[in-house]
Amino acid sequence: MSADKKSGGLAGIIAGETGISTVGKEGMGLTYRGYSISDLATHATFEEVAFLLLYGYLPKHSELESYQHKLASLRGLPAPLKTILEQLPAATDPMDVLRTGCSALGCLEPEGGHRDLHTVANRMLAAFPSILLYWYQFHQTGKRIETQVAAPNMAAHFLHLLLGKPADELRIRSLDASLILYAEHEFNASTFAARVTTSTLADYYSAICSGIGALRGALHGGANEAAMELIEKFKSPDEAEAGLLDLLQHKALIMGFGHRVYKTCDPRSAPIKDLAKKLATSDDYKKLFTIAERIESVMMREKKMFPNLDFYSALAYHFCGIPTPMFTPIFVIARTSGWSAHVAEQRQHNRLIRPTAEYTGPHPRPFVPFAQR
Ligand code: COA
Repeated sequence: MSADKKSGGLAGIIAGETGISTVGKEGMGLTYRGYSISDLATHATFEEVAFLLLYGYLPKHSELESYQHKLASLRGLPAPLKTILEQLPAATDPMDVLRTGCSALGCLEPEGGHRDLHTVANRMLAAFPSILLYWYQFHQTGKRIETQVAAPNMAAHFLHLLLGKPADELRIRSLDASLILYAEHEFNASTFAARVTTSTLADYYSAICSGIGALRGALHGGANEAAMELIEKFKSPDEAEAGLLDLLQHKALIMGFGHRVYKTCDPRSAPIKDLAKKLATSDDYKKLFTIAERIESVMMREKKMFPNLDFYSALAYHFCGIPTPMFTPIFVIARTSGWSAHVAEQRQHNRLIRPTAEYTGPHPRPFVPFAQR
C-alpha cells in the first residue's frame, strides 16, 4: 500500500490534541469550546465568539463591552504601514495585501519578549479590515481613508470602510454571522500551517502569515471566490444545469462543494444560505440565488455532494456589495480568531511538529564527480 493510500493529505490522521473546536463529531457538526455553531451563529456576535475562542469562555456583559471598545480602539494604522500599502500595485491580490500587511505590522509592532499573545491577536483582528480597505480605497479612489471610524462591531466597520458610509442592519448582521461561521475549524490546512510555524517557537505574525498563505488556495479559502465565478457564469438555472453536467463530465472540481471531514452536510451551510436568501431582494440577486440552488440540486443528484460554507457565503457577500476578490480576505479576518486560539494552545503544550515520510526515491548510489558526468 502506498503512502498516499495510507495517509494521503493526512486524511483521518489525528495530528494532535485541541480543546478549541470539534468538527464532524456525531450529532454536533461543529462546536466552538463546546457551543454548537448554530447557537453561536444565531445568538452571538463575532466579538463574543472571538472572545470565546481566545479566552475560553463566553464574556459577561461588561467584559464584552470592554472587549468591543478595545477592538474598536485598535483600528488605526501606523503611517509606515500606510506608505507600504500605498506602494503595493493596485493589481495586487488582496490576500497578498493581508499577508504583507501582517508581516509589516510584525516589523512595526513586534511581539514583545513577554509574548502577550492576546494583545497582538486583538491588534491583528482589528487591523486586518483597516489594512485591506485602506489599500483598496487608496488604489480605487485615490483617497487616504481614516480607518479609525466609529462602528459598533467588526462587520459594521468593514462595511463602513468599503461603502464609505454606515451599512444597513441586514448586511451588518449577515457579515457578522458569516464571520462567526468562518472563525474556527479545528485542524484545517491553514490552522495546521499556523500551528506548525508556532511549534518552531516562531513569532505570532509568522504563524498568521503561514495561515494566510495556506488559506489562499482554491481547495481551501479561495473556494468562495471560485464559487462566485461559477455561479455568475450562468444566465439561468437551466443553463447552470447544462453547464454543470458538462463540467462534471470533464471531471472538473466544483468549488464550494465537498469536504474532507463532513460526510452528509456542512452545518455552516444552512445558516449562510438563509441569510443569502434574505439578502436577495432585487430581481438580479433572486436569479443568482435560483441558479445557485439549481447547482446545489444537480450536485446532490449527480454526485451526492452538498454545499460547504464557501458556496452560499459567496452569494451572501455578493449581495452585501462586497467585491469577489475580498471574499477570501474576509475569511482571513474571521479565522484570525481561530488561528490565534490555536497559536496560544500550541505554545501551551508545545512540541516541534515534524512528521516522517515514506521514502520513494532512488536506492543509495555512488556519487559521480562533476568531470565524469
Ligand atoms: N467537485 C467534484 N468532485 C469532487 C469535489 C468537488 N467539489 N470534491 C471532491 N470530489 C470528488 C473527487 O474528485 C474524488 O473523486 P474520485 O474518487 O473519482 O477521484 C472524490 O470526490 C473524493 O474527493 P477527494 O479529493 O479525495 O476529497 P478530499 O477530502 O481530498 O478533498 C476538498 C476535499 C474540500 C479539497 C474537495 O472536496 C474539493 O476540492 N472541493 C472543492 C474546493 C472547496 O470547496 N474547498 C473548500 C472546502 S471547505
